Amino acid sequence: MTRSATHVLFVCLGNICRSPAAESVFNFLLEKKNLHKEFVVESAGTGGWHVGERPDARMLRHGEKRGLKFESLGRQFVKADFTRFDHIVVMDDANYRDVSRMAESVVESGKIVKMAAFHLSKTTKEVPDPYYGGPDGFELVLDILENACAEFLKSISKAD
Ligand code: 4NP
Repeated sequence: MTRSATHVLFVCLGNICRSPAAESVFNFLLEKKNLHKEFVVESAGTGGWHVGERPDARMLRHGEKRGLKFESLGRQFVKADFTRFDHIVVMDDANYRDVSRMAESVVESGKIVKMAAFHLSKTTKEVPDPYYGGPDGFELVLDILENACAEFLKSISKAD
């Protein structure tokens, strides 16, 4: 029997730092496990300031050093994403509130999960916004995402 692809959308505020990085980390894991044909992976921002833009140059630099590839252009989260995607993975509590506010049913709000909830350290509550900070913030985001994306993949693979 053919199974349709699992659709995963990563969401942050600007869609130029954290969610494109999450998309890249997740795609990297899928390639490694030869699972890429079973998934559709995208990212989006709750804000619209960076629509059509490449990810932030600092995130590209830090991510590419770890072997990540970035292919997405900025786009804003829209209501139709609740229909297209099975899992909507948000980076922080503000993203969670903003996306939840747009949900129109229990099924839609049930698709929203926090990235940090999958991180093995239970003290990590959010993927912190690195935009106004220094290089350490970008490294911290990538460290959190590498751990949390691996655990997220395990959890949705088990649920299938
Ligand atoms: P992101 O970071 O949400 O991780 O993409 C940000 C990018 C841009 C802005 C804020 C956060 N901004 O205010 O333009």
